[in-house]
Amino acid sequence: MPNRRLSVAPMMDYTDRHARYLLRLISRHTLLYTEMVTAAAVVHGDTARLLAFDAAEHPVALQLGGADAGEMARAARIGAEVGYDEINLNIGCPSDRVQSGRFGACLMAEPDTVAQCVRAMRAETEVPVTVKTRIGIDHQDSYEALRAFVDTVAAAGCETFVIHARKAWLQGLSPKQNREIPPLDYPRVHRLKRDYPELEIIINGGIRSLAEAERELGHVDGVMIGRAVFDDLWLLAEADRRLYAATDALPTRREVLQAYVEYCERELARGTRMPHLTRHLMGLVQGLPGARRFRRHMSEDARRPDAGPGLLLDAWDELEAELPTTPSGMCALAAEGEFRAG
Ligand SMILES: Cc1cc2nc3c(=O)[nH]c(=O)nc-3n(C[C@H](O)[C@H](O)[C@H](O)COP(=O)(O)O)c2cc1C
Repeated sequence: MPNRRLSVAPMMDYTDRHARYLLRLISRHTLLYTEMVTAAAVVHGDTARLLAFDAAEHPVALQLGGADAGEMARAARIGAEVGYDEINLNIGCPSDRVQSGRFGACLMAEPDTVAQCVRAMRAETEVPVTVKTRIGIDHQDSYEALRAFVDTVAAAGCETFVIHARKAWLQGLSPKQNREIPPLDYPRVHRLKRDYPELEIIINGGIRSLAEAERELGHVDGVMIGRAVFDDLWLLAEADRRLYAATDALPTRREVLQAYVEYCERELARGTRMPHLTRHLMGLVQGLPGARRFRRHMSEDARRPDAGPGLLLDAWDELEAELPTTPSGMCALAAEGEFRAG
């Protein structure tokens, strides 16, 4: 059973296997999610490619989208067989494409369909089946409606709900607007936890720091963070110590990059292209002087035909060399515990 105190949200175009590998180098314990994959693609598509992940990524959850119980069950079984630690069902995405397939957030209006999916998935696999959803959709946005949804889906065997603490408007707002415009309502999620102490309730939406995550853990069982992690990957650096009581030494950014370089070498040998590997590094230097130049190396230079993984450490060393030094002569990263003697 994965520990869900902290997780990184499933995000299309972000949480691919390279990003997950990189995040795992920063935090050993944070639960990671894949991008959403449709159950149909898992069952009928190039499963090996779609579901590939590195053993180092554990604990890692597969997020599925779909509404056909039989297909969802087959996809869940395949996901569990290839080794995912959890199968999550996406009932929160409001995009038109997803709605036209009749899944995602619009399924909040069909709790019985979600329950059938959960029941069928649970029958096919031993790994936990969880649901990620919103606090409501359209005019179905009362607390009672949320409770009715949770009652029906929990009765089918779902013990963990990830709740994005804002509703979604299925018409008129883009997916991006639906992540910004409907207001966050954390108290509603806290109330859900109070009313269902036996369920595991994970809060999501707008959480920007570990301090906020710690505060939320006073109300719910776990916190899921999405955008803030990709804006600033280093947000996760202290997660193991602060949220999992780990005592391992904090990694430095250079150590993370060094390990990622080794991963990149293996990936390049398998035919992965450099920009697919470097694009996730933008958030590693958030807030540091020289970040813009580092990012340019990662986006423009990585496209050059002769670009190799050495580029990563060269760009970092260039940034580090230009960091202002403190009066005692240590570079500015000393303040973050990144100064290393010698
Ligand atoms: C670019 C992007 C892609 C996303 N893709 C997914 C997805 O595949 N599945 C999903 O359940 N949510 C997806 N989301 C929503 C996030 O998982 C999360 O619920 C949302 O961003 C709110 O959390 P945050 O404020 O911490 O980012 C996506 C969000 C973004 C910004």
